[in-house]
Amino acid sequence: MTTKKTKLVKKPRRPALTVRKATLKDLPILVHQRRAMWRELGAREQTELDRADKVYAGWARSRMKSGTLMGWVAENEGKVLGGGCVWLQPVQPRPGYKLMIQPYLLSMYTEPRYRGLGVASGVVEKALEWCRSNRFHQLRLHASEMGRKVYLKHGFERTWEMRRRIKRLREDS
Ligand SMILES: CC(C)(COP(=O)(O)OP(=O)(O)OC[C@H]1O[C@@H](n2cnc3c(N)ncnc32)[C@H](O)[C@@H]1OP(=O)(O)O)[C@@H](O)C(=O)NCCC(=O)NCCS
Repeated sequence: MTTKKTKLVKKPRRPALTVRKATLKDLPILVHQRRAMWRELGAREQTELDRADKVYAGWARSRMKSGTLMGWVAENEGKVLGGGCVWLQPVQPRPGYKLMIQPYLLSMYTEPRYRGLGVASGVVEKALEWCRSNRFHQLRLHASEMGRKVYLKHGFERTWEMRRRIKRLREDS
C-alpha cells in the first residue's frame, strides 16, 4: 500500500516586512486603503465612496503637510500590503493634560491576501513607537469587528466612551 505524503506548506508568520512612514507621494495609496476599509465596513455606494475619497485626500494632504497626520505603509519587496495613520486629533482641555491634541489611529487596512501575517501589527507597533517617542500618554481608536483582536493583542483596552444614535448609518459599528 502506498501512502500519500501530504506536503505541509507553512505560511510564514511574517513576510519580510518594511513599515515606513508615508510621504505625500503615498497619498493615493492611503486613499485607496481608506476606501477599501470603508467598503469592508459596509459602505457600498460608488458615488459616495468617490466623494469621500476626494474629501479624505484633501483632509489628509493638508494634515500631512502640517504634521498632524502621519501615515505608515507596510511593504514587502516594494509591494504595499497594508497601512494605517495616526491623526493628532484636537480635544477639549482637562486637568492634568496640557496638550489639547491626542493621537488617534485610523484607516487601518491590510490587503485581503496578506491578512493574518502581522501586517497590521507592524503598523500598530510603529504607531505606538511614534507615540512613545513623542511623549504621548495614549493612543485611541475605534475598532472595527475585524480589528479588535489586533488591538487587544497590542495592549489596547475598551474604554467607557458612549454614544446615543440619532440616526443609524449602515456602516456604523
Ligand atoms: C483588521 C485588519 C487591518 C487586520 O490586518 P492583519 O494584517 O490581518 O492583522 P495581523 O496579521 O497583524 O493580526 C494580528 C492578530 O489579530 C488576528 N486577526 C487579524 N484579523 C482577524 C480577524 N478578522 N478575526 C480574528 N482575528 C484576526 C490575527 O490572527 C493576529 O493574531 P495572532 O498573531 O494571534 O494570529 C484587516 O483584517 C483589515 O484590513 N480589515 C478590513 C478593514 C478594517 O476592519 N480595518 C480596521 C479598522 S479599525
